[in-house]
Amino acid sequence: MKFFIDTANLFEIKEAYDLGVLDGVTTNPSLMAKEGIAGKDKIMAHYKAICHIVDNNVSAEVIATDFDGIIKEGKELAKIDDKIVVKVPMIKDGVKAIKKFTSEGIRTNCTLVFSPGQALLTAKAGASYVSPFIGRLDDISQDGLDLIAQIRLIYDNYGYGTEILAASIRHTIHLIKCAEIGADVATCPLHVIMALLKHPLTDSGLEKFLADHKRLMDKRIRKYDLRITKLRF
Ligand code: G3P
Repeated sequence: MKFFIDTANLFEIKEAYDLGVLDGVTTNPSLMAKEGIAGKDKIMAHYKAICHIVDNNVSAEVIATDFDGIIKEGKELAKIDDKIVVKVPMIKDGVKAIKKFTSEGIRTNCTLVFSPGQALLTAKAGASYVSPFIGRLDDISQDGLDLIAQIRLIYDNYGYGTEILAASIRHTIHLIKCAEIGADVATCPLHVIMALLKHPLTDSGLEKFLADHKRLMDKRIRKYDLRITKLRF
């Protein structure tokens, strides 16, 4: 399973990258706004900075919602770096644009996907990634994980190459369930990736190992001190 981090914060991206398990980054206009990145030049420079940190797969989202606008913007984003994946919303002109990008070798991530039908269209258009938003479905009392399972089944039925990028992940249970179902990628906030490290038995076990080691070392030091004392007198 690939791990992407869902943020535009450079420090968080660097921290996740330094852990050695990061395969990419997803951003969206809200995440960029959270970092105070506004204006075309700053946005482009910020994507470039993200591409300098990670090895591949940096999703950069278009703002345009009409076909020509999406194509223009997507091509500009793709020119920033080979690592860029153009993120396009699940709308009519978005699907058409994904088809065109794919035919030109530009990788795409279809975002704001909330139904199996939308995921089917995404695959048929040839997107590199489909982004179903689990947490936001949970928020409206629908099981987001069911959607991941439905998409997995449909894509496997026909051998679609589009990778399932589970998004809007809120906690480690989402992430683990996605791995069980067989999502290809999970994009999560830094705290979810870091929470995977934690288990109380790991903490208490390590504490005991270190305490036992220290006790033994103290005993050996005391014996050594005793031998020195005997030598002196
Ligand atoms: O990047 C898209 C997605 O992961 C957003 O998550 O938490 O805003 O629903 P969230």
